[in-house]
Amino acid sequence: MPEKVVINVKNLKKYFPVRMGLMSSLAKGEKKFVHAVDNVSFDIKQGEVYSLVGESGCGKTTTGRLLTRLEDPTSGHIYFHKKDIANLKGKELKAFRRNVQMIFQDPYESLNPRLTVFATVAEPLIVHHVGDTIDEREDLAAKALEAAELKPASEYLHRYPHELSGGQRQRVAIARALVLRPEFIVADEPVSMLDVSIRSGILNLLLELREKYGIPYLFITHDLSVARYMSDRIGVMYLGTLVETGDTEKIINNPHHPYTRALLSSVPVPDPYYKRQRKKIKGDLPSPIDVPKGCRFHPRCIFAKKGICDAKDPPIIEVESGHIVKCHFAKDIPAMDETAEETLEENMELGDELLREVMRSSPSDEESMEKIEQYEHETSF
Ligand SMILES: Nc1ncnc2c1ncn2[C@@H]1O[C@H](COP(=O)(O)OP(=O)(O)OP(=O)(O)O)[C@@H](O)[C@H]1O
Ligand code: SF4
Ligand SMILES: [Mg+2]
Repeated sequence: MPEKVVINVKNLKKYFPVRMGLMSSLAKGEKKFVHAVDNVSFDIKQGEVYSLVGESGCGKTTTGRLLTRLEDPTSGHIYFHKKDIANLKGKELKAFRRNVQMIFQDPYESLNPRLTVFATVAEPLIVHHVGDTIDEREDLAAKALEAAELKPASEYLHRYPHELSGGQRQRVAIARALVLRPEFIVADEPVSMLDVSIRSGILNLLLELREKYGIPYLFITHDLSVARYMSDRIGVMYLGTLVETGDTEKIINNPHHPYTRALLSSVPVPDPYYKRQRKKIKGDLPSPIDVPKGCRFHPRCIFAKKGICDAKDPPIIEVESGHIVKCHFAKDIPAMDETAEETLEENMELGDELLREVMRSSPSDEESMEKIEQYEHETSF
């Protein structure tokens, strides 16, 4: 039976106008734009965790905000259960918002310090006119808190955010996202601001909720080990475009796009006694305002060919079923040499091993804390 597609994104674009001084815009006579999301297409199936990974500024959050319609797209389509929601307005937009929720990176910022846990979790119920009485709303809020494993809910309902730990606040944010029983959740770096020792609890909770309710997630992360742990499929973004997408294990074990390979080889080796150096991707990330012509990755790509890569936008090529690569030479890039392949394998294994250690560790144990600090320091781009 074909899997049901919940979200289907087609040629999605978001350009932000750049604020220029009056004199410089008059002098140049042109408007400039940040190409935050530029022609991105992918889909997310029922019960699936689809992760977006990539360097800072590549457009992950903007994509998440577009899918929840916190941003209006410049152009393109977002089909939610086959209905295009890209240009919804008014009542229809409000109805759509009931079905999708976003969990943000920073639970310290996303919760209003003046609202109790009950007021925070019940707010979406009031906005969407769910529950007729305060008792009914309290009951729904309590159920959502218990689903987020804040048990018994009565202990939390009347507390304020400053009376909670970081992990508990993120659980309140998750309960708030759950209270309307959404059909789709965007989780934007939901653990990156939390102490490493409590990250595993939140990640496992998100996976359990997926199991229990079949909710699909767009999961945004800059941490490849976390993406591997969480996702069924991964999309790799570079400078506003999706350069490779496919099943998690295919992306990790058989990456085709030169950028994905570079990204995987640059996953740090977390053992300080391990001599191999982290391989840095050459050059700096170009500006999303003046994006390079042709393939956006060409100024940094070791396989770039003059006259092709710097001239033409690469085609989208399916290298194996469901594994899609945006590169002129997706099928011809030479197989990785043994050293590169070994480095990649070792890096991923060590990253995984450390992630597992971190997940098992307790913050009271000094040795674990050292590992956690090391992990935090080493596992981001
Ligand atoms: N409201 C805005 N106005 C102008 N530019 C914006 C706005 N929001 C995002 N951008 C720009 O769009 C680009 C993509 O930003 P985005 O926040 O989506 O990246 P990201 O991949 O989530 O990065 P990070 O990993 O740092 O969170 C960046 O160049 C950013 O500066
Ligand atoms: S299209 Fe050319 S520059 Fe771009 S990733 Fe492929 S080989 Fe490299
Ligand atoms: Mg972001």
